[in-house]
Amino acid sequence: MKNKQLRISRSDRITIAGLPGTGKTTLAKFLSSLCVPRVLIYDPLAQYGGFEDEHRYIPKSDTATEFNTVCRRLRAQGNLMFVVEEAERYIGQGRPLGDDAFDLINRGRNWNVGITAVTRRIQRLSKDYFDLCQHVIFFKCGLKSREYIADMIGWADTNRIMKLSKFSFLHYDVEKEESSIHILKLGSVTTPDAVAQEIKMEKSIGGGKIVDG
Ligand SMILES: Nc1ncnc2c1ncn2[C@@H]1O[C@H](COP(=O)(O)OP(=O)(O)OP(=O)(O)O)[C@@H](O)[C@H]1O
Ligand SMILES: [Mg+2]
Repeated sequence: MKNKQLRISRSDRITIAGLPGTGKTTLAKFLSSLCVPRVLIYDPLAQYGGFEDEHRYIPKSDTATEFNTVCRRLRAQGNLMFVVEEAERYIGQGRPLGDDAFDLINRGRNWNVGITAVTRRIQRLSKDYFDLCQHVIFFKCGLKSREYIADMIGWADTNRIMKLSKFSFLHYDVEKEESSIHILKLGSVTTPDAVAQEIKMEKSIGGGKIVDG
């Protein structure tokens, strides 16, 4: 995944956090589209209809066992980005983690497997996972998570997050301890066949690009 401003590797650990409706899933779809065909999306809310079936997995349950089974498959497969929506359900603080999920999170880089965790509640995400992240992408966050975030990245950046404009996000590069604000500009797609607004939206995401926000 390359972008002029953002340099994210397919084998990185990434967290995308923010309030409902701030644009997390849209950005995750965009990043996923850059990884195709080397991507698998754990899609509990069935939101990634624009992707081929082989690139998404809709779990039948919220159990650690089912999540672990998919992690085992990915471990064997290697060389892809694993995008996990509603990540606090599967990689949650204090939640049981299967052996393969644990391995994938901790040693996935050995198999060239990256993870993108998408969550509304960053406090509920596993701290162990969080500690391994190279990138944290913050959309506007709730008041309750403010102190939690400040604890991790300091008040200066936390205050910038609280003031983000619509659909903008702060990218925090954990290794460099640098932050920058961006926005995903959706591509303009003009399809005469406007039957499916959703399809248009999906195409528009695919044609988007990240710019300074
Ligand atoms: N960069 C953007 N430009 C224009 N519209 C956007 C952008 N990002 C998101 N949207 C629109 O905002 C709405 C909410 O976006 P999205 O579903 O990505 O939010 P979310 O953070 O995943 O919300 P939730 O927490 O409820 O899952 C969508 O209708 C989407 O089309
Ligand atoms: Mg979402």
